[in-house]
Amino acid sequence: MCGIVGTIGKTDTLPFLLEGLGRLEYRGYDSAGVAVVNENEIKIRKAVGGVSRLVEEVGRNPVQGNPGISHTRWATHGSVTTENAHPHLDASGRLALVHNGVVENHKHLREELVGRGHTFHSQTDTEVLAHLIGESFDQNADRNRSALVHAMQEALRHVRGTYAIALIHADLGRFLAAARSGSPLVLGIGKDAQFIASDAAALDGWVQDVVFLKDQDIAALDGESFHIAKVNGSEAAVPKLRKIEVEARATGKGGFPHFMLKEIHEQPHALREAMKGRIILEEATARFTGLHRTNEQLRDLKRIILTGCGTTFHAALAGEYMIESLARIPVECDYASEFRYRNAPLDSETAVFVMSQSGETADTLAALRESKRKGALTLGICNNVFSTIGRESDGGIGLRAGVEIGVAATKTFTSELLILAMLGLMLGRIRDLSQADAMEVIEGLDELPGLVARTLEREQIIASIAAKYATARNFLFMGRQANFPIALEGALKMKEITYIPSAGHPSAELKHGIIALINEETPTIVLAPQDEVFEKNISNIEEIKARRGPVIAIGSEGDKSLESLCDATILLPAAPTFLSPFLNTVALQLLAYHTAVIHGCDVDKPRNLAKSVTVE
Ligand code: F6R
Repeated sequence: MCGIVGTIGKTDTLPFLLEGLGRLEYRGYDSAGVAVVNENEIKIRKAVGGVSRLVEEVGRNPVQGNPGISHTRWATHGSVTTENAHPHLDASGRLALVHNGVVENHKHLREELVGRGHTFHSQTDTEVLAHLIGESFDQNADRNRSALVHAMQEALRHVRGTYAIALIHADLGRFLAAARSGSPLVLGIGKDAQFIASDAAALDGWVQDVVFLKDQDIAALDGESFHIAKVNGSEAAVPKLRKIEVEARATGKGGFPHFMLKEIHEQPHALREAMKGRIILEEATARFTGLHRTNEQLRDLKRIILTGCGTTFHAALAGEYMIESLARIPVECDYASEFRYRNAPLDSETAVFVMSQSGETADTLAALRESKRKGALTLGICNNVFSTIGRESDGGIGLRAGVEIGVAATKTFTSELLILAMLGLMLGRIRDLSQADAMEVIEGLDELPGLVARTLEREQIIASIAAKYATARNFLFMGRQANFPIALEGALKMKEITYIPSAGHPSAELKHGIIALINEETPTIVLAPQDEVFEKNISNIEEIKARRGPVIAIGSEGDKSLESLCDATILLPAAPTFLSPFLNTVALQLLAYHTAVIHGCDVDKPRNLAKSVTVE
């Protein structure tokens, strides 16, 4: 996590640093800070809280300079305090550094540095990087730009873990250096300035070309030209300049009180975008050109692994049901955060779909690299197709959901579900799925955006149910088949933005322990659309009611039985069974949203979270 922006140009860097940092706040918002070189001195401003707090601090205590580096933090080592906010200084106070990643051997390095007389001012792992590089630089008689690059090479060789760093030195004037290993970093080239950032989106409108730095790269920038070296001193590859189209940034909330609500309402549009040009009616199939695989190659696959984290993992779980039923190919789902710690057998007949809306989740990226190492075909499913996962996969599918600012994923989740449904359709059609059955799926998909729009019309009913149950201290969520992962997702949304303990379970597991949790104070949300397991869900509801547990049922329009049995009922448009997970998701997003609003929670920036989890 954590976001970095650095720049070197002809004018004051502060406006760029603060704006760029605001664009990276999705990576963390515990604290923010900036350092600039001004009249051969390093000037630093820091604030606890989001970038707006840093802007206030700079307003109270103005500063300007060139070059400059800045950082928005998601705390890993050391609590959320001004002292722990980046940038950090070296022992001389003349080198300032920002860092994204985790220095795993920081304790050992710190002890060695303390033994050599260094004093530390924070509990962060980052401060050792500033001290190590600064110490090595100060020992070099040359004290010039090359000496700083050498110091970085010398220091970074001792570092275990991951890092993207940017640094400036008061004695080197117009010079900015950066390096990466494991954490993303992009170099941007504008007309009058050069930039370093964790994500190209931070540089939107300022640069013409970008270079995605590679692991072990050290970039040295002087405002006009740049040079790339390697940490181990080997020759760096000739940098590849890329034009990058950063999608128009969703700057406003479009009249909604929160980005999350706006993004929930954007789902019909996002789903239409995900389907555009990908449904081939004549062949009753779906096509994804970015997979770069022929039907023959895809037919040879014997197994599919879907891997991701958090909400994206829930999409994978729902995808398993969809792909297996449409394509009859074995699908396994793996938490990306666990994947590389077990010795998963992989081979060239396995495709690993590496799923991540941001495309930067460290655990998911590690799962991608592990799968590649073991010879599996790796295919990314990302919203940001220019992300590290997007670039490192053998092929991929873009979600086209548009920028998602709310930290709790909403529209990207339903877009992931849709991509997996279309993938099932495509894989089914090159196996056993008949044209007639495929056309039924396509007709259903065609209706999907409209069904989601009609689900959104239930918002007032859902808001009033949220108000009725907002004081609950726990929630249970239950569903069967592909609605089981939706129960998990509903519980995750509730936890993330309301902080109310909530858990999702397969309805059929009720009797195997969960029933012990049922009491008069714990509402259970049961996903019970009209499908082949409807009667089974009714039995579960009866079992909960027999123990006086309040039940909120989410069913299908026209249903008569739920209303008489349950304490609250949300009836959604009648839809083909394979589409009910989409509609239930939207209802659960709204339930969590309205509960959070009643509690006065910071819906778009829930405590302790970050949109992109770039540390393991
Ligand atoms: C929850 C949420 C997270 C992410 C997870 C993976 O609302 O957003 O659980 O789904 O961190 O993120 P991506 O999909 O970017 O890899």
